[in-house]
Amino acid sequence: MNLRATPQTPTFRGWAVQQPRVRDLACRPYGRFLDYNGAVAYAPPERSDLAPLPGSMPEPFAIAIDGPAASGKTSVGRRTAELLGFRFLDTGWMYRAAAWAALRGRAALGDEDGLIALAEGLAFDFVLCGGEHRVLVDGADVTDRLKDRVVAGASSAIAAVSGVRRVLVARQRAIARQGPIVMVGRDIGTVVLADAPVKVYLTASVEVRAARRHREFRAAGNPVSYCQVVSDLMRRDKMDSERDDSPLRPAGGAIHVGTDGVSVDELAQKIAGVAARAGWKS
Ligand code: C5P
Repeated sequence: MNLRATPQTPTFRGWAVQQPRVRDLACRPYGRFLDYNGAVAYAPPERSDLAPLPGSMPEPFAIAIDGPAASGKTSVGRRTAELLGFRFLDTGWMYRAAAWAALRGRAALGDEDGLIALAEGLAFDFVLCGGEHRVLVDGADVTDRLKDRVVAGASSAIAAVSGVRRVLVARQRAIARQGPIVMVGRDIGTVVLADAPVKVYLTASVEVRAARRHREFRAAGNPVSYCQVVSDLMRRDKMDSERDDSPLRPAGGAIHVGTDGVSVDELAQKIAGVAARAGWKS
């Protein structure tokens, strides 16, 4: 499929665009993002033939959001991206995808070299389908499987492997170079996008985080107990904040925002305001 922009090619924020073809996986270009108006912005760095129109490369601008599990990063990050017309990437999905693939037998959890090779071989597509963010791994929509408790637990163990982080961080940076983005995770402001003009560290009480995650599990038909959710969260917090490589911690200069009892809209407006003060012009 030739996605080179021609004079007739519609553009969105300076990028060659094409209507989404998410069902047509055989045609999927890798590194694709669907944008909020249903257009697709392409430009994987490896494919110069997919480059945006000369001189029209959108300037990168990153909003880095970090925080512990279930602190509201995804909802707030997604809403902020919608408000500003930015792309959105939840980097947790990448670690979960590696864990999911490993649990399906593609590498043993204790085999670091195997896990690194696995991470290198994963092909990601991040798509927006009917207003919902979905992740395709090797062409298959695995979004719902990545929400599994066992996958979440294994992802924290895999995320402690430096070689896996190196592979996934390189991909995250390549995506950020393609234009404005809200990226959420544990090490975005400290490592992945340490130069981001906007850094936010979200916090919430364990009770609120556990209640949030418990509700999500229940809605998905998972009968896990509230106490199990609390214990899972605390175990993951400990692993994420005590690992040697890129532990969870607030970046220098990050604004600290508590999400307990504050609406997603309010938080997103606040972050959009910080972006405007940091120089973002919409
Ligand atoms: O955010 P989420 O719960 O989906 O992340 C799953 C796991 O991936 C986290 O517990 C953490 O161990 C790891 N992770 C990470 N760095 C990121 C994002 C996620 O180490 N930037």
